Amino acid sequence: MITLFTNIKGLVNVRTNSHRLFGQQLAKLPVIDNAFLLIEDGIIADYGAMFELELKVPQLPKTSIDLEGKYVLPAWCDSHTHLVFGGSRESEFVDKIRGLSYAEIAARGGGILNSARHIAAISEDELFTQSWNRLQEVSRLGTGAIEIKSGYGLTVASELKMLRVIKKLQQSSPLKIRSTFLGAHTYPLEFRDNHQGYIDLLINEMLPVIAAEKLADYIDVFCETGFFSPEEMETICKAGQAVGLQPKLHVNQLNSIGGISSGLALGAVSLDHLETLTESDIRLLANTDPTTAPVCTLLPGAAFFLRMPFQPARELIDAGCCVALASDYNPGSSPSGNMNLVVAMSCIQMKMLPGEAINAATINGAYAMGLGEDVGSITIGKAANLIITKPVLSLDYLPYAYGSNLIQAVIINGDYVD
Ligand code: NIG
Ligand code: FE
Repeated sequence: MITLFTNIKGLVNVRTNSHRLFGQQLAKLPVIDNAFLLIEDGIIADYGAMFELELKVPQLPKTSIDLEGKYVLPAWCDSHTHLVFGGSRESEFVDKIRGLSYAEIAARGGGILNSARHIAAISEDELFTQSWNRLQEVSRLGTGAIEIKSGYGLTVASELKMLRVIKKLQQSSPLKIRSTFLGAHTYPLEFRDNHQGYIDLLINEMLPVIAAEKLADYIDVFCETGFFSPEEMETICKAGQAVGLQPKLHVNQLNSIGGISSGLALGAVSLDHLETLTESDIRLLANTDPTTAPVCTLLPGAAFFLRMPFQPARELIDAGCCVALASDYNPGSSPSGNMNLVVAMSCIQMKMLPGEAINAATINGAYAMGLGEDVGSITIGKAANLIITKPVLSLDYLPYAYGSNLIQAVIINGDYVD
């Protein structure tokens, strides 16, 4: 099937060569004004300025779709979510308003353990249905590719239940979905004083099944005071790497305890959260060889929801790092998968320029989950995963009018999302 869009006010993030963006490169967002875009069988086939249309597309399709006044962007690439979960945790939300901290709620058996009780109690089918509905919701909000983690199971059966649900989502949804094994999200109560016992369970009972059934692409660990130490993270990640799972890691959310240097030593694909970075952490991240440097994935939704300081995006970008934005969609610290809001928050609270934020939420997000060659920019041969805006005056208007729904349509693999 062929679709031709014409008179596009601005075709955003057009790239002949797709690669990760570091430091100052993030501010350069290539846009073609008054453009056309040709889609063939779900793939971007050609694009250009309107004056080039007849030259570039000599055999024009019979009909075309006029997008006067509207922008076309690559769909969001949300590279860090926990979208598969059971139930919700709004009672903890109220506890936090009353004064309890995230760490205090976790220490009394709430938080991740609360979500683990939900997962244990519901069937795989019910978990799929709840997760499917969330995936539908975020795709209508413009997300076209997404990473989803396990980590609310914490037993062999429940972690596998979560990962199988992610696999079923991959098989049923047109979105590109990457799966991450986060068995090391917290220690279950019975292993609180027996860390090695749980690490053995992760490595000897869970990983072999995950590898055999190809249930995950990546491995993740929550490296944090009261959760997993950098040394424990290294042990778990090395076992994951031995079966082909590269690390994407939760580090420096609440405390700086050495997760950055351990993550770098492991060659992590991405280091995520980064609310709490010391100057030497930033230097470490900035001084890493760009060919092996991790993507620094910032999750402003979690900082906002937990009333934490926002991630130091300016310092990271100015130091030359590769920065991505993601939603962290989860029931405890970020119960929203709205990437439009994430982009707006990064501009409003983290002083990212709108162009930097759009690059971070598209092309760099795609690379943060190994999909940089498939999605994240308007590039010939990539999937036609697109956001069509309502008529707007400028691209900067999108994060500026942060409370408005400015999306007219979302397209995944060339098809409209209903
Ligand atoms: O990314 N920080 C660790 N994991 C999640 C939240 C987990 C939860 O509270 O459910 C996060 O913020
Ligand atoms: Fe997370």
